[in-house]
Amino acid sequence: MDVKAIEEILGDRFRRVATDGAAMLKEVGLPAGAKVLDVGTGQGYFAIFLAAQGYEVLTGEPETDSSRYARRDWAENARKADVLERIRFAGFDASRLPFECEAFDAVFFYGVLHHIDAQQRADVLREAQRVAKRGGVVVFFEPSQKMLEIVRMDDPEHPDAADPFKYAVDGEVEKRLIAGTFMNIFVCRKRNCQA
Ligand SMILES: C[S@@+](CC[C@H](N)C(=O)[O-])C[C@H]1O[C@@H](n2cnc3c(N)ncnc32)[C@H](O)[C@@H]1O
Repeated sequence: MDVKAIEEILGDRFRRVATDGAAMLKEVGLPAGAKVLDVGTGQGYFAIFLAAQGYEVLTGEPETDSSRYARRDWAENARKADVLERIRFAGFDASRLPFECEAFDAVFFYGVLHHIDAQQRADVLREAQRVAKRGGVVVFFEPSQKMLEIVRMDDPEHPDAADPFKYAVDGEVEKRLIAGTFMNIFVCRKRNCQA
């Protein structure tokens, strides 16, 4: 099933994810067969977008998260989109990733960093950079003002966007900001592995 067909099934929110996901892939140029980590599963929309591109996706969130954005119906959405077999789930906390150094070609956070305590964000960036391969990317999608207004129609308490570059380990990544249609896309391309 192609992304347009999945948009028809999953609706507007998935369409927004796919629009900015495509803009990111055009700039980042992820190779076929790349090993990717999707942090913050939620409804599974970004994991589904990646799986629809043919990537094998590992996605996860803390099993203890009881917020409205966690433990959602991601597997049912992936089944509807016919990509369930390309997505694996693991419970984990982004500040202590249970993976080896340089395990992934790309690490993605779609709509996640602003849901993590500001005090934990430096650890989250350090961990994401540790598990990304040299030359690989860590990519954060954070809401633009326009997107925040849309989200706050349903959730008036939704937090402000985070600035991932504030927490990136200096000297270890090249930073690039891409203006998506709905989200700002913060790309950190890794120069070295942090052991
Ligand atoms: C708005 S949802 C993300 C939406 C999702 N990426 C999608 O495409 O549908 C926010 C996610 O961040 C996750 N999250 C919050 N704190 C986290 C942490 N410390 N480590 C990993 N994930 C976390 C939540 O459990 C939830 O899955």
